[in-house]
Amino acid sequence: MILEGVLTTQNVDGSTHIAAMGTVLDERWDSVVLRPYQTSQTFENLKRLGEAVFHITDDVELLVRSALGLIPEPPPLQPACCIRGRIIQDTCRWYELRVTTVDDRQPRSQIACHLVHQGWLRDFVGFCRAKHAVLEGAILASRRDLLPAGEIRREFARLSVIVEKTAGDQERRAFATLSRYIEEAK
Ligand SMILES: Cc1cc2nc3c(=O)[nH]c(=O)nc-3n(C[C@H](O)[C@H](O)[C@H](O)COP(=O)(O)O)c2cc1C
Repeated sequence: MILEGVLTTQNVDGSTHIAAMGTVLDERWDSVVLRPYQTSQTFENLKRLGEAVFHITDDVELLVRSALGLIPEPPPLQPACCIRGRIIQDTCRWYELRVTTVDDRQPRSQIACHLVHQGWLRDFVGFCRAKHAVLEGAILASRRDLLPAGEIRREFARLSVIVEKTAGDQERRAFATLSRYIEEAK
């Protein structure tokens, strides 16, 4: 299974880097693999420090901003319990990870991790089609320079119908951010 979420890693200067990221895992979290591209800041931080915090969140605005590198100010953070890392305070659950192996033979690395500690802060809001539509839009937007523009436009038109029908304010703002980002590429 691949779970999508938000990963925090520590930069060289001690600040916290936030990136949307998927983890490949089994349901008991016995096996956890991150797959950041080697060009990413996330990869650099993971390789250097070997620790990260993965967050399950329903905050799709944070997810979008962290996928597009649009986080001028990080959200409120607190120290992780068992690793050198930071937890996003407004998250549902967090997972403190320590890297066990780094496979960098491909541009998209495979970083196996061991689950050190986990915690719960609040419930996940529940299924909302607009949140999932924004998630799909965020994945498309993060591949803006790789995918054909026509394909992205068609998918966004389809996703916008779901957002129109089912979104709250947060999902509308997040989808608007994504749409602007896609428009800028033209
Ligand atoms: C839901 C979602 C999952 C993502 N998963 C990955 C991933 O597994 N690996 C990756 O390199 N980028 C992934 N991305 C894109 C990154 O969030 C984006 O490239 C980000 O800027 C990471 O680069 P950075 O560490 O340099 O900030 C994902 C984006 C979204 C929206």
